[in-house]
Amino acid sequence: MNEPQRARGWLWSMWQYMKLFALRQSENDWEEMYRGFPAEKLPWESNKPSPWLVKFVHDGVMRGKVLDVGCGAGTHSVWMAEQGLNVSGIDVSATAIMLARGLATGHEVNINFQIGDAVHSPYPNSSFDAIFDRGTYHHQDRRKTEYVREMTRLLKPGGKYLLLAFSPKMHWPKSVTLAEVERMFGRALVIDWTGEEVHVQPDGREVRLGAYLLTKRP
Ligand SMILES: C[S@@+](CC[C@H](N)C(=O)[O-])C[C@H]1O[C@@H](n2cnc3c(N)ncnc32)[C@H](O)[C@@H]1O
Repeated sequence: MNEPQRARGWLWSMWQYMKLFALRQSENDWEEMYRGFPAEKLPWESNKPSPWLVKFVHDGVMRGKVLDVGCGAGTHSVWMAEQGLNVSGIDVSATAIMLARGLATGHEVNINFQIGDAVHSPYPNSSFDAIFDRGTYHHQDRRKTEYVREMTRLLKPGGKYLLLAFSPKMHWPKSVTLAEVERMFGRALVIDWTGEEVHVQPDGREVRLGAYLLTKRP
């Protein structure tokens, strides 16, 4: 690769990063990112499951039929399936779902992956005992109300929602406060627990995520 090509590549990556942390993301933007970065270089990719997901699965809190909403390349879906959970994953990016299916095949687990917009999902009411949302809610921008309504529809009464979203400590436009979680989810779900985790991006930068465990009211 020559100098001008390298510079163009760098500018493109910076533009994608800026959109990711500050601007609205469209369906095409997600697809462009999955096509533009190798899976292991995607800024949110961890190659290992979120520590809070691990804890709540091991404690039996996240169990049964689980939806990985915005499942991306499938890291968390595959891990949950390996723990014996019945996993469905939905993502708006066709390339993400292709990667996720490949990962599931490699790990010999069965997962119901679906390309689609989670705001208009294909699942019947009360389909899931739990929903895992790592980094999807905070990108819904002006559609957050519809998104939360849909997630609530999919969850069984008593079902669990584990949300990981940009922490207010990041001071990013897309950061999510506890007050926002209460306002957006509080009508149908109760916040049981809050925490935090640090995600180290493939480039070594740290991103703080707020963690929230919610239960759907009966
Ligand atoms: C920051 S990434 C996180 C991916 C994955 N949850 C993880 O932790 O590795 C957000 C994901 O949500 C997907 N996404 C965003 N909005 C979506 C929507 N409305 N419906 C389905 N997927 C969506 C994106 O394509 C992307 O894969």
